[in-house]
Amino acid sequence: MKRIIFEQVRARQIFDSRGNPTIQAYTGDGEITTTASVPSGASTGRHEALELRDGGIEFGGKGVNRAIENVEGPIASSLIHRSFADVREVDLTMIKLDGTPNKSALGANAILSVSMAAARLFSRKNGLELFEYISSVSGRRPSIPVPMLNIINGGVHAGGELAVQEFLIVPSGFKNIFDALRASSEIYQSLKAHLKRKYGPFASNIGDEGGFVPPVKKTEDALQSIVESVTEAGYSPGTDVFLAIDAAASEFYRDGIYVIDGKEMEPAELGDYYISLASKFPIVSIEDPYDEEAFEDFAILNKRIGSKVQLIGDDIYVTNSARIRRGIEMKSSNAVLIKLNQIGTVSETVDSSLLAVNAGMNAVVSHRSGETTDDFIADLAVGLGTGQIKTGAPARGERVAKYNRLMEIASGHPDIPFSSVVFFGRK
Ligand code: PGA
Ligand code: ZN
Repeated sequence: MKRIIFEQVRARQIFDSRGNPTIQAYTGDGEITTTASVPSGASTGRHEALELRDGGIEFGGKGVNRAIENVEGPIASSLIHRSFADVREVDLTMIKLDGTPNKSALGANAILSVSMAAARLFSRKNGLELFEYISSVSGRRPSIPVPMLNIINGGVHAGGELAVQEFLIVPSGFKNIFDALRASSEIYQSLKAHLKRKYGPFASNIGDEGGFVPPVKKTEDALQSIVESVTEAGYSPGTDVFLAIDAAASEFYRDGIYVIDGKEMEPAELGDYYISLASKFPIVSIEDPYDEEAFEDFAILNKRIGSKVQLIGDDIYVTNSARIRRGIEMKSSNAVLIKLNQIGTVSETVDSSLLAVNAGMNAVVSHRSGETTDDFIADLAVGLGTGQIKTGAPARGERVAKYNRLMEIASGHPDIPFSSVVFFGRK
């Protein structure tokens, strides 16, 4: 691998898919310039690395001028005219410069934008595609991930009444990414028609991740509509297309009680509820079933259904290796969600993924609800080779950018296998 002497480290403000400011960085060696943009969550975990915002009245406090100043000031000064062997060295330099456990001095958004742009610079300088470079950093064999597509939006991603945040389809029964995405697109369109027929024209309005927001209150009603529209699109629920949910339960948890589907539930009752859902519907994956501090409740549910269903921790782990280690020790889940901006550098994201997969867990690369058209995570998922990606509905520019990049990689590299991920009992 070629070393790089950084000659350019800059940043500017762009808008994310919710219309809020975010940061786009530029890195260059005087010959090539690469850019990268960072996303932003809504149902963020309490232990995520800090997203630095300006406060004040501009943009309702969400400005990123301070983050930009940190890129062009201290971060640029620590990188420019210096030679680096890889993105790991760049990340380490920024982590040391920041000096805090949660990147609160410089901002994880500032640091990540440079880390991602730097990874692209290393890939370009070495004549590699980004996923090939990620694969060299991770030491893993590339594979095309099975997509998990969020086609009904609830929770804080939508103005509806569903407590569960995400209702996803998992087209894992197909030979390649093209067939999987064709089925997903057809199901998305059939769901749109189905919801309009059932609930009227407003039912096809959409939420932050491009999924529909029908006027339903109950989890089962949303799942039922999806199952019916899978069939109406000519596919077979439980054979080629499966379902998944992200409860994002921290958002409906208060003082030991979960408020869902018009009921108040204790952790054990909620566990029974998830188990009954998984027996009625072809659910292969459940994310954040409990609050972000509930390692023990996660572990109890994992013991009950972890051999049949993928149980993903997102807000509980926040892509943080210390928290993932705790989850491994306590057997809190059998999978982790992987988000770059929860931890704030590319190399720490790779390391968290490796920690999880080496402990026998699944790792699912994910977008955020506030996204840009940057397709970095498509390459990240392929280069990590962990087999799954979650990046929204098969609609809206910032979501399809990632699916389109997956198809571009698969077209250009027919030798890369389509993941045959195992969902713990259900293929
Ligand atoms: P967020 O949602 O980006 O709003 O955190 C995504 C998720 O919870 O998986
Ligand atoms: Zn989540």
